[in-house]
Amino acid sequence: VTTIKVGMLGLGTVGSGVVERLREAATKIEQMQGVRFQLAAVAVHHLNAPRRVVLPVGTRLTNSIDAVVTDPEIQLVVEVMGTVATAKAAIITALQHGKSVVTANKDLIATAGDQLVALAQQRCCDLFYEASVAGGIPILRTLTDSYATDTVQSVTGIINGTANYILSAMTQTGQSYAEALATAQRLGYAEADPSHDVQGIDAAYKLIILSRFAFGQGLTVKQVQPVGITSVTAAQCRQAAVNGWQIKLLAQARQHGQRLYCRVAPVAVGQDQALSQVGGVQNGIMIASQAIGDSLYTGPGAGSSATANSVLNDMVVAGQRIRTGIRGAAFNRNHHQLTVTHFNQ
Ligand code: HSE
Repeated sequence: VTTIKVGMLGLGTVGSGVVERLREAATKIEQMQGVRFQLAAVAVHHLNAPRRVVLPVGTRLTNSIDAVVTDPEIQLVVEVMGTVATAKAAIITALQHGKSVVTANKDLIATAGDQLVALAQQRCCDLFYEASVAGGIPILRTLTDSYATDTVQSVTGIINGTANYILSAMTQTGQSYAEALATAQRLGYAEADPSHDVQGIDAAYKLIILSRFAFGQGLTVKQVQPVGITSVTAAQCRQAAVNGWQIKLLAQARQHGQRLYCRVAPVAVGQDQALSQVGGVQNGIMIASQAIGDSLYTGPGAGSSATANSVLNDMVVAGQRIRTGIRGAAFNRNHHQLTVTHFNQ
């Protein structure tokens, strides 16, 4: 069994979940993968803040991110802070110090993923971020592995649980927009700044990451021009349902020749369409591809345990690769030069 010392940055909802999942799965990981993770250090903002989890005996709690990402004994850094600038600097330092990195940071990967992946490759380290898109659904690895020889034609996703909860609640229970948003916040699904959820920015970030994997083509928020759900009313949702439609915040990317069409917007989905059945805080991603046809992947898009499980699985893959000494490929993706166009143009 190879012991790998882990440094974690952040101990919030996802970080606490990772500590719990790590404890639950430790024996399985050791027996099946031959890897033992030792949580050497956790960097937090406030050393004395109340904690949801008890750290393993011997884990160092520190407020110095630098001490963790430069610690020569730490081989794997898990970033679950959620901030962008601080996390980016920390990941860059970790990669420059030859450490593999696992992150759940969607905003960072959407905006600076290419730069970080390039650095990881240059430094022969791994950078994994499955948890950054659709929490518990292993969609990035599915696109990497199961669609490796296939050609993806379109990706259509309900990839913001908060928006989906609000739209579902307004349709079914007649809850107002504000009431439904407050519930999504209480459930711990909404972003710290929920405007990202309701304005479609969070979904746009996820579509940007998905597009890199599905089409080998990055997007920008400006190209996606996200339209959120702030002006959708409960009356519109109910009227649509009466007529056989469900209003959903869809994130779409479709390749046509050398063009990649994209958008994030509220769309009326027919009740005979599988995506219309993805309700509440669930996520659903429909992938149409040449060889497989249509496949729908559904599951929890957020939540401590589901997201932490994705982080832990990335840790296991990274750990295996540290153990065997094969690193530096991150997620393998094709690169294409497509012309990005908005659906409405
Ligand atoms: N705020 C996000 C959502 C959480 O509601 O889907 C996961 O990214």
